[in-house]
Amino acid sequence: MAEDLSITSGTKAEQYEALIPQINALLEGEPDLVANLANITAALKEQFRWLWVGFYIVKSGELVLGPFQGPVACTRIKRGRGVCGTSWAEAKTLVVPDVEKFPGHIACSSLSKSEIVVPVFKANEVIAILDVDSELLNHFDETDAKYLEMISAIAARSWNS
Ligand code: SME
Repeated sequence: MAEDLSITSGTKAEQYEALIPQINALLEGEPDLVANLANITAALKEQFRWLWVGFYIVKSGELVLGPFQGPVACTRIKRGRGVCGTSWAEAKTLVVPDVEKFPGHIACSSLSKSEIVVPVFKANEVIAILDVDSELLNHFDETDAKYLEMISAIAARSWNS
């Protein structure tokens, strides 16, 4: 595979549509979880230039920071805590237009204004979450939810157990 990324312009949907085959190509034939999650976050960061994008992985009953791109972040999040822990507990995507209005939001960076969190499922269990933060209010919508859920399903294929 080619370790370079073609950055696309156009509508948000067009950008995701161009990115997803490239993510699939980056992961093809590579079984290593960290390598694959790292490349997914790098591809998303390069395309969209969000403040922060990364995975938290369920380990021993907590979310633990995994591969990410952006400023340093909190390492552990309990189930039901913050946007990430709530997405895990409710097993659903959460779009948060204004993080200050989300009860219990965990502010890893004071620059973050809006957020989307998408669960990663394996056999109907949440095994990780994909978290994206923006410096802009109201940055994420149903288009992001739809495509990030596709990318979460691609990520899930890298879990072998
Ligand atoms: N804001 C998240 C914490 C993770 S950071 O944004 C990277 C939350 O409330 O769960």
